Amino acid sequence: MLHAAQPPWPATRLRRLRSRAFARAMIRETALSASHLIWPTFVLEGEGRTVPVGTLPGVERLSIDRLLVRAEQAAGLGVAAVALFPVIESEKTVHAEAATDPDGLVPRAVRALKQALPDLGVITDVALDPYTSHGQDGLIDQRGYVLNDETIAVLIRQATAHAAAGADFVAPSDMMDGRIGAIRRALDAAGHGMTAILAYSAKYASSFYGPFRDAVGSAKNLGASSKETYQLDPANAVEGLRECALDVAEGADMLMVKPGLPYLDMVLRVREAFDLPVAVYQVSGEYAMLRTAAAAGALDYERCLIESLLAFRRAGASAILTYGAIDAARLLAR
Ligand code: PBG
Repeated sequence: MLHAAQPPWPATRLRRLRSRAFARAMIRETALSASHLIWPTFVLEGEGRTVPVGTLPGVERLSIDRLLVRAEQAAGLGVAAVALFPVIESEKTVHAEAATDPDGLVPRAVRALKQALPDLGVITDVALDPYTSHGQDGLIDQRGYVLNDETIAVLIRQATAHAAAGADFVAPSDMMDGRIGAIRRALDAAGHGMTAILAYSAKYASSFYGPFRDAVGSAKNLGASSKETYQLDPANAVEGLRECALDVAEGADMLMVKPGLPYLDMVLRVREAFDLPVAVYQVSGEYAMLRTAAAAGALDYERCLIESLLAFRRAGASAILTYGAIDAARLLAR
């Protein structure tokens, strides 16, 4: 009965410790630093290209040469890692062939990053949606249903291509059943035993992904179709924990909760239920809310960004994916 033991006011005054800057700093329970941040970024073909994402203020799709410049800045500020998402402009197909090309856009970006900045972590997205003409994360049957086991067969080839290029972590974001174990076995069989798996375990069928789908060009193709036959129902917490338990059993190195702020309860529950480090993704829609509210004069972008990241850490996240990673790292360095 920790709280019952406190003598009531006026003997107890919580404002005593809050009244002095040194004391506030001294008793701070949660630390946030650039080493906790992962920068999700969009890469496209070509040279010298920076293409803004209309619905995601402050975020640009970058060709590999431009990506290297920004990544160097991120690394210099102590950002932990970059998470790569490809923008496939010309080769979207029904079967997502480009996803498994060992010399595709993502493997080339990984090699360039690891060569230029070997200490910056590189995390790749394992999912088919940037590559499919229909915008789904997997292969589909004639009625448009996303096929599980057939999709896994492609995902393991995609993950192996990323690992061969030097990715530190592969991060399956597709929500097929059984893909973590299948990817782990495929990586080990190909000699990539040290490539880690960051599993998007509690990933919800969220409407907060809108700007991301614009960025990778899947929104149009997806049309009215949804992802609710594979991503989690936003109403379900217990089922999210079942997903995590399966991914742990299949060999995940880290678990992820996504989206972030609307799912902070899941960050805390996953943190308490499992002993793996937890990552959380402040997704495109959440980030766009901060930026557009700031542009409208309603919020202070910098303060609200840092506060939201601190909230993720308080809830128990080890790592945070945020489009504001570089901005936040700069603010934390001040
Ligand atoms: C799909 C994927 C999505 C995001 C990351 N990977 C979107 C989706 O599931 O439709 C969303 C990230 C964001 O909104 O920032 N594999």
